[in-house]
Amino acid sequence: MCGIIGYAGSENAVPIIINGLKKLEYRGYDSAGLAVYTEQKFDVVKRKGRLAALESCLKENPVSGFTGIGHTRWATHGEPSDENSHPHLGHQNKIAIVHNGIIENYKRLRENLKAKGIAFTSQTDSEVIAQLAEYYYNGDIIDTIIKVANRLEGSYALGVMCLDQPGTLIAVRKDNPLIVGVCETGNFIASDIPAVLKHTNKVYYPDDKEIAIIKKDGVTFINFDKEPIDKELETISWDADSAEKGGYPHFMLKEIMEQPKVTTDTFLSLSGNHDNSKIINDLKLDSYNKLVITACGSAYNAGVVAKYVFEKLCRVSVEVELASEFRYKNAIIDEKTLVILISQSGETADTIAAMREAKSKGAHTLSIVNVIGSTIAKEADHTIYTIAGPEIAVATTKAFSAQLIVLYTLGVEFAHKLKKIDTAQRQVYLNDIKTIPEKIKAILNRIDKIQHYATDCIAYKSIFFIGRNIDYAIALEGSLKLKEISYIHSEAYAGGELKHGTISLIEDNTLVVALSNCERLSPKIMSNIEQVISRGAKSLLVGSCKADEIEDKLQVIAVPEIHELFSPSLSVIVLQLFSYYVAANKGLDIDKPRNLAKSVTVE
Ligand code: AGP
Repeated sequence: MCGIIGYAGSENAVPIIINGLKKLEYRGYDSAGLAVYTEQKFDVVKRKGRLAALESCLKENPVSGFTGIGHTRWATHGEPSDENSHPHLGHQNKIAIVHNGIIENYKRLRENLKAKGIAFTSQTDSEVIAQLAEYYYNGDIIDTIIKVANRLEGSYALGVMCLDQPGTLIAVRKDNPLIVGVCETGNFIASDIPAVLKHTNKVYYPDDKEIAIIKKDGVTFINFDKEPIDKELETISWDADSAEKGGYPHFMLKEIMEQPKVTTDTFLSLSGNHDNSKIINDLKLDSYNKLVITACGSAYNAGVVAKYVFEKLCRVSVEVELASEFRYKNAIIDEKTLVILISQSGETADTIAAMREAKSKGAHTLSIVNVIGSTIAKEADHTIYTIAGPEIAVATTKAFSAQLIVLYTLGVEFAHKLKKIDTAQRQVYLNDIKTIPEKIKAILNRIDKIQHYATDCIAYKSIFFIGRNIDYAIALEGSLKLKEISYIHSEAYAGGELKHGTISLIEDNTLVVALSNCERLSPKIMSNIEQVISRGAKSLLVGSCKADEIEDKLQVIAVPEIHELFSPSLSVIVLQLFSYYVAANKGLDIDKPRNLAKSVTVE
């Protein structure tokens, strides 16, 4: 996964790179490093562990320079260590690189170079890029990069410095994100927009195999034939504050609290003259005979919610597939299939692969993406942007809520276009969706109760989440949220499945969180609760369906009433806060849970 940044300008690159890496740390935090160009050599500092380790090292041994590259690592090849940290240099210390991606043929390249007497200092796939570059280098760094890129199999976003080119950074990408930011005091490369937002909101998006040449006073682009490319400079509407914690202890809590605004903004973007609304209007829904949704993690869970919404409103059958499975199953799709891809980052490797697989079979692709200009947003036939702003915490909250708003609205508009609901019914549904932000606010105003309940839950060995129908979809998300940040074992089940195996795991010291927003299914979920309580578990009921608390055995956190199809937007707020406070009470690193990275750009 990893994050890269580079700067060439008139200011000291070191604090700029460190600040940028702070914004990219969500992409990986096994180690961090930087290299700056100083008087005919590179000063390189890199350290295993969080960025703080690099910072304290720099405090003791400061370096400076006007051109530099930095990296924050999520280890794939080689353990987290100082040696495996980036930047990597070639054997003559002439070329320094930072890399995000995976070089699939690195073993072969490495063996070839070793046979030529070149010694490697790390176990990474990335070092092969620096070594190969120096091996090929003949005085022309652009020729060298083209040659190297042509030998690499896999994915890369690369930042390169060459000793013979002071003040110049070279960047190139294939299948991994890279932006080029420009401002008066210098120019940047980065894996993601928040890394440069403090300095500029003007960015270029290089395409695959386009080379960016970045100098203090300008940026140029060429292709692999060294022909100049004209690129459009784009303005990002996100402001710098949106990538700061704004007084909250964690980004996750800040992002949870932003959900009334995010859901309002996203809903508004789906009506009137906004691009999102035009896309919905332009979709020729009656030309498809199959609807497939594919995504990973929480985005997949949003897809499961959508399946219930679409099937109920549109009366069409919907398949929801994990992108990591979809890509390898030789899916039965064709030009009459609409494949919906959901992704916050727009860079998830499995979802990108699923999209390409779908396109190669002639299917139409519609993506729901948060990060502007990301790979999925650019390659899908149509893209609807969620208006969530930058999401920094690894555990997604506000982007998930924004995805739900898009999916509900799509469901209603599809149903209307397919004549399954009339105009009056359409309006009733849209009015209901419109109430979501206020209802989320009402839940956030009762945060104390959730915080108090969560405080008592840190000792549970296992926490199960159950629900039926659309409540099951949100049980999946509640369980994922909890396990990823609190490290408590958790599973989600459809309520009716308990008796088919899982109930054998229920004993003292187990908590079962039951979702209950479907009035017609409330008695069923209540009997599930009774079954687990009688086997020693405690239970928490979250939802709008009424239930009586039972002393210390069953607690209820009620959410406002809304049509059951839209209830996930309310239940999920309780579940996000529950997970957050369990993790906070355990003193865990909530924004950067162990072993995870926000943007999963590798398989
Ligand atoms: C959610 O909290 C996770 N961090 C993760 O499951 C995430 O939703 C998944 O990796 C998909 O990411 P994307 O939305 O950027 O494609």
